[in-house]
Amino acid sequence: MKILAYHVQEYEVDAVKNWAKNNDIQVDIEYGLLTVDSVDKAKGYDGVTTQQVIPVKDEEIYRKLKENGVKQISSRTAGVDMFDLDLAKKYGISITNVPQYSPNAIAELAVTHAMMLLRNINHIKTAQATGNFKWEKRVISKEIRSCVVGIIGTGRIGLTTAKLFKGLGAEVIGYDVFKNPNAEGVLEYASDLEDLLSRSDVVSLHLPLTEDTYHLINKDNIKFMKEGAILINTGRGALLDIDAVLAELDSGHLKAAGLDVLECETLYVNQKIDDREKLEDSPVPNLMSRDDVNLTGHFAFFTETAVDNLVSTSLDNIKCHNETGEVVNSMN
Ligand code: NAI
Repeated sequence: MKILAYHVQEYEVDAVKNWAKNNDIQVDIEYGLLTVDSVDKAKGYDGVTTQQVIPVKDEEIYRKLKENGVKQISSRTAGVDMFDLDLAKKYGISITNVPQYSPNAIAELAVTHAMMLLRNINHIKTAQATGNFKWEKRVISKEIRSCVVGIIGTGRIGLTTAKLFKGLGAEVIGYDVFKNPNAEGVLEYASDLEDLLSRSDVVSLHLPLTEDTYHLINKDNIKFMKEGAILINTGRGALLDIDAVLAELDSGHLKAAGLDVLECETLYVNQKIDDREKLEDSPVPNLMSRDDVNLTGHFAFFTETAVDNLVSTSLDNIKCHNETGEVVNSMN
């Protein structure tokens, strides 16, 4: 059995090699992305794994994988919206994911964003850069224990985030289409989305991106958010309409936004941008320049524990499929 690992990052190499050694299975490393141009490299392999935010939507990729005898793309991610699941199915390719690799990694970044923005750290640092260390009224902050935190999507990551905020003393409320039985004692459910938005000082998004959740926060319902509220998105960029968020920040209705993900993030995620012109037609330069915004380029998952779990589970998925015929963590 042989596996080809696409788009392997420097920080993943040790985890890939350790898994290969421990399982006595050949895993070859390909540093490039899985694209129309690179798909033929998969010839002769039993499965491929990749980790990419660049869409894999070209039919040619799935057709050639089938031609090359590859039965599975094992994504080293939780979300699989970068793949075309129907096309994959058409060519008999299973798309598998890593549903859980470290909810704490994402939850901790959501809390970090919220605390930094609540305590006005960006404003303090900007003032400090001009030599201004004064206790100005505009940077006095609330304490998290006097805040209501609204968690939208109370699954694995949302509930972990809720527990961290509760541990800090916040009152936590939630909204979800399904109530999580493990949420009892951690959060109370709001009656609906509007109810959650209107009661929360901090709103944190932890949903998958689907047709139903596209622009879940938009110009019509963002107005229900509390005056001075903070919005955090570590889910998927398109869960919110960024133009609506910017309008509410500009008007002063919202205090701040913590954005680990953005709808246009493929422009910059995991890249060093030397040519700023590339970002010119996007909201990114504006977001980067603001003290009321924390922009992290999809870093929430980026912890040692999460990376190790992502690599090993994705390779386990391929091993299991090949050895038992069972497709675990299938998404199509
Ligand atoms: P999960 O499946 O455990 O929880 C998602 C929750 O969203 C579920 O409880 C579900 O009922 C709820 N939901 C789905 N559609 C809904 C709707 N229309 N309205 C209200 N609730 C709805 O997923 P998990 O593991 O908590 O992950 C959540 C999301 O976080 C992932 O889908 C992924 O997009 C994102 N993520 C982001 C990462 C990052 O690095 N920034 C890393 C990992 C995940």
